Amino acid sequence: MSVKAKIGPSILNADLANLAAESKKLLDNGADYLHLDVMDGNFVPNLTFGHPMVKSLRNKIKTAFFETHMMVQNPEQWISPMADAGVNLYTFHIEPVDDVYKVSRLIQEAGMQVGLAIKPGTKVADLEKYISIADVVLVMTVEPGFGGQSFMADMMPKVEWLRQNYPNLDIEVDGGVGPKTIECCAKSGANMIVSGTAVVGATDQRQVIKDMRDVVQSYLK
Ligand code: DX5
Ligand code: ZN
Repeated sequence: MSVKAKIGPSILNADLANLAAESKKLLDNGADYLHLDVMDGNFVPNLTFGHPMVKSLRNKIKTAFFETHMMVQNPEQWISPMADAGVNLYTFHIEPVDDVYKVSRLIQEAGMQVGLAIKPGTKVADLEKYISIADVVLVMTVEPGFGGQSFMADMMPKVEWLRQNYPNLDIEVDGGVGPKTIECCAKSGANMIVSGTAVVGATDQRQVIKDMRDVVQSYLK
């Protein structure tokens, strides 16, 4: 299997007034990438930040891999500014999008990788026809909108199905993932792990990140 275990902390519940410092700390402590949660108050009932903040962060952190998790009603609208802000992986929800192929193509043309996300209520079958154009598939393990929610173990059949059918696909999970739930994700076949509160709030971030990556890697061998 060629996929690798990667831990991408979500900075949603970090001190956003000190985002650069919080992000650097996470990267120094072994984070493989940063997962930046963009919410528009429309697709989800919450509001976070947009491309100006991502661009400011990029100015301070030159090399890290940035994923933006676009919890927005119209992901097409933000492709160009997010590419300009230095985003590497543009992950959007398929639910509100009419033409997933078109949005994916525009993301690629803007020089970013394509991530396709599904909410808990969306079947993996709804995503299947798009898998060939995706660099990453994100299976939400909470209802998107807020950090610190409880992990939904009943999403694991989606991950299992994806891993069985697509052994080389990057499969990401997001929501309620931490030391207590990592085994479940790893066993099911997820290899990209988003973790917010469990990492950001840990007294030993380095240890938590390493332990989770080790568990995921052990199932990929
Ligand atoms: C939820 C976000 C997640 C969330 C993860 O809408 O997409 O990235 O912040 O945070 P935890 O790990 O605390 O659930
Ligand atoms: Zn997220």
